[in-house]
Amino acid sequence: MAAVATDDPRESDRTMPSRQSMSQELWNRVDEYLTGVFVGDDPGADALRASAAAGLPAIHVSPNQAQFLSILARSIGARRILEIGTLGGYSSIWLARALPPDGLLISLELDPRHAEIARSNVDRAGLRDKVEIRQGPALKLLSQLAAESTDRFDFVFVDADKPNASAYFDWASEHTRSGGLIVVDNVVREGEIIDVQTEDPDVRGMQQCLRQLSADRRVTAVGLQTVGVKGYDGFVLAIVNDPTHA
Ligand code: SAH
Ligand code: DHB
Ligand code: MG
Repeated sequence: MAAVATDDPRESDRTMPSRQSMSQELWNRVDEYLTGVFVGDDPGADALRASAAAGLPAIHVSPNQAQFLSILARSIGARRILEIGTLGGYSSIWLARALPPDGLLISLELDPRHAEIARSNVDRAGLRDKVEIRQGPALKLLSQLAAESTDRFDFVFVDADKPNASAYFDWASEHTRSGGLIVVDNVVREGEIIDVQTEDPDVRGMQQCLRQLSADRRVTAVGLQTVGVKGYDGFVLAIVNDPTHA
């Protein structure tokens, strides 16, 4: 990140961390503070411990973000949720707890080991009846899903491989009810999203996804930047339009 001219007297103190790392330190502390105030007992804490012990990467959503997703799902009365990208089931556990007793979350995961660990984490959280983890490449699982049921989803969380994000979004906007929500994770990526010259396939995947999303008349979307223990990133929230009002 380039240096920025400033009147901030702290900039002249060479013992201070850089502006960037100071921000991260502050974001962490505020994130931890807000998590302490609002999240309380984390229903996914055991899942995080087990996932870390199994060597899974710590790329799950943060507790605050999980609470945010759960509030979104509850606010639209979600009964059928689709998640693309399970990892160890941390966000799955949070989203499943946002469901009514007869609700269902289907989560798709490529890596058999991730899927197995996630199933055991979901079982331990007492959510076996509400969560179905399907293992395989998401694009294949999505076409199977479309073939086996015409039931639409209320809420879709897109959080798997980024180069396929626009394909996942496209599927989601076709299979989510009017008034339903599609949330895409990791759309800002430390600001790299605006780098038109990037060759990072993940960033390019997100850029393609945002372009496609913005042209998709089936949805109305907004991008939100987030800071906190996950660094500087963001979500896109897309609501599926009612065709009679669009
Ligand atoms: N939603 C999780 C984090 C998911 S990390 C949470 O917040 O707790 C992204 C996951 O997507 C990884 O487990 C990765 O194995 C999986 N993934 C990558 N490519 C995939 C694909 N083609 N199909 C399905 N899952 C995929
Ligand atoms: C990565 C993936 C994620 O879904 C995330 O939230 C953070 C990082 C990654 O692949 O590095
Ligand atoms: Mg993510």
